[in-house]
Amino acid sequence: MKEILKLIMEEVTSAFVDCGYDEKYGHVSISNRPDLCEFQCNGAMAAAKEYKKAPIVIASEVCEKLQDNAMFKSVEACPPGFLNITLAEDFLASYANEMAEDERLGMPQVENPETIMIDYGGPNVAKPLHVGHLRSAIIGESIKRISKFVGHNAIGDVHLGDWGLQMGLIITELRLRKPELVYFDPDYTGEYPTEAPFTIGELEEIYPTASGKSKEDAAYKEEAMAATYELQHGNKGYQALLGHILNVSVTDLKKNYENLNVSFELWKGESDAQPYIPDMVEKMKADGHAYISEGALVVDVKEETDTKEIPPCMILKSDGASLYNTTDLATMVWRMEDYNPNQIIYVVDKRQELYFTQVFRCARKTGIVPENTGLHFVGFGTMNGKDGKPFKTREGGVMRLETLVSEINDKMYQKIMENKTMDEEEARKTAKMVALSAIKYGDLSNQASKDYIFDVERFTSFEGNTGPYILYTIVRMKSILNKYNELGKHVADAKILPAASESEKSLMLELSKFNSSIRGAYEELAPHKICAYIYDLANAFNHFYHETRIMAEEDEVKQAGYICLLKLTKNALETCIDLLGFEAPERM
Ligand code: ARG
Repeated sequence: MKEILKLIMEEVTSAFVDCGYDEKYGHVSISNRPDLCEFQCNGAMAAAKEYKKAPIVIASEVCEKLQDNAMFKSVEACPPGFLNITLAEDFLASYANEMAEDERLGMPQVENPETIMIDYGGPNVAKPLHVGHLRSAIIGESIKRISKFVGHNAIGDVHLGDWGLQMGLIITELRLRKPELVYFDPDYTGEYPTEAPFTIGELEEIYPTASGKSKEDAAYKEEAMAATYELQHGNKGYQALLGHILNVSVTDLKKNYENLNVSFELWKGESDAQPYIPDMVEKMKADGHAYISEGALVVDVKEETDTKEIPPCMILKSDGASLYNTTDLATMVWRMEDYNPNQIIYVVDKRQELYFTQVFRCARKTGIVPENTGLHFVGFGTMNGKDGKPFKTREGGVMRLETLVSEINDKMYQKIMENKTMDEEEARKTAKMVALSAIKYGDLSNQASKDYIFDVERFTSFEGNTGPYILYTIVRMKSILNKYNELGKHVADAKILPAASESEKSLMLELSKFNSSIRGAYEELAPHKICAYIYDLANAFNHFYHETRIMAEEDEVKQAGYICLLKLTKNALETCIDLLGFEAPERM
C-alpha cells in the first residue's frame, strides 16, 4: 500500500500542476497545528517567489482545485499562504480497511531484497555476559527483525570474542590446577575426551582468577602469552581445550540470549577469521597498501578532509601477532566471499567509533569490501544507573546480565501476584514476558547513540512510555475481543466504519502511519522510531476506548466496526513489538 502522506501529496501536487505551478511545491507534511488541521502544505509560500504572486493567491487557486476531492473533508487556504488539510472520514476508513485486509498491514515488501549481515552481540567466550552486552543484543536483534520485515535477507552473526590472551590465560590456570590432564601431555597421541574438564561455573571463575594473577605476576603473564602463541600455532592439546571452552561457553550464551528472545543465524567467532589472515596480509603488502612503521605493519587511513587525526590501521604487531583490527578485516574477507552482502551493519559500543572508522577505511582502501557494499556503524551509548554512572550491582561490581534479568523478573512477578488474578505458574510466565518488555522497551525507546538511565521503577511501570504499558494496552484489547466472542458474536465480513468521533478518527490517523513509521525505522536503523509510533498508537487507542462504549453499543454494525478497528490496532501493535523483540501475554 502507498503511504497515506504520499497519496495526499499526489493529489495536492496535481492541483499545483493543474494551476500551472511546479510539482515541487506540492509537498505535504503532518500538521504542526493539530488543532487546525491534520496535514499541511506550505508550498504556496515558496512558489510565491518564483511566480511573483502573493502566496495566498496561489494557495487559494490550489485550494479551489481540491474542493471536490473525495479524499478531503476540508482544504482551506489560510493567510499568509498555508493549505490546511483535513481528511474525509470515508477515505480514512477505507485506508484502514485496506490495511486490515493486507497481512502486512499496508507495509510493502521491498522489490530488490538485499543480503544484510548484522554483527551484534559480541560476547567474549568464558566471560559471563554483563549489562554492557545487553544493548548490542537488544538493538541488533531489533534491527535484524525490522530488516527482515521490510523484506531483506538479514543474517545475524554473534562475532564471538574467542581469540587472544583470554584463551591463553584459561589454559595456563587450568594447567596449574590440573597438570595431569592429557591436554598438557606433549607425547599424548590418542583421542581427546569429548567431555570438558570444567563446568561453566568453573570456567567463569577460572578466567577472572587468571586475569587477576596475570596483572600482578609478570611470569604468569609470560606463560599465558606463550600458551596463546602455542594455541594459535598448532598445539593440538590446547586446541582441543579451546574446543571445550567454546562448547561450554556457547551453550551458556545461547541459553542467556534465548531468555532475551535474541538469536543468531551465525555463531562465528574471531577465531574463524584467522585462516584468512595470511593471504589478506600478503595482498595488502603486494598492493603496496601495507608498510612497516616502527616494526609494525600498518595501512594509512587518514584522508585530506579529516578534521581530527585518524591514526593508521595496525595490521600486525612487530612480533607478527595479529590484532582486533586484523580479525575484523579478515572477518570481512569471509563475509564477502561466503555471503557477498549488500550491507554490513555493526552494532557496537560507540566508544569503538574511531576504531570502526579506521577498519572501514582500511577495508575500502585495500579492496576487501567494494564500494557497493554498505558499511554501517550503529554505535550505542552507555546504560547508566540512577547515579548517572555505568550501571553496577549494589556492591559496585559489574552486573551480570542473568542477575539483572532475574531481578526484573522477580519484581514483575510480585506486581502480578498483587493483583491475585492468576496462579503461580501463569504469573511466572507472564512476569517473564512483561519483564522483557520493560528491559527492551526501556532501552530501545532511546535513540541508540545516547546514554540512558536504567530506571527499574520507571521501566516496570504499567503507566507512561514503557513496555508494560504497551503490553497492558494489548492485553486490554485481547480481553475485549474475548468478551465479544464469548457473547457468540463474530465480525464476519464487517468493516471499519467512518469515524464517528474525534478519538476514533485520531486512532485511524495513527494506524495509517504504520507503514511509514516502519520504513523510517529501517532507513535510519532506528528502532526508537517504532517505540515512538506504538506509544502514540497505544495512547490513541486508550483515548478511544475511554470515550467509546464498545461492549454496550446496541447497534450491531457499529459495534462490529469498533471490533474491526480494535483488531487492526492490536495487529499493528503486536507486529511492532515483535520487531522490537518481545511479545504480549494473554492477561496481566
Ligand atoms: N567482543 C567485543 C567486545 O566485547 C565486541 C565485538 C564487536 N564486533 C566486532 N566486529 N568488533 O568489545
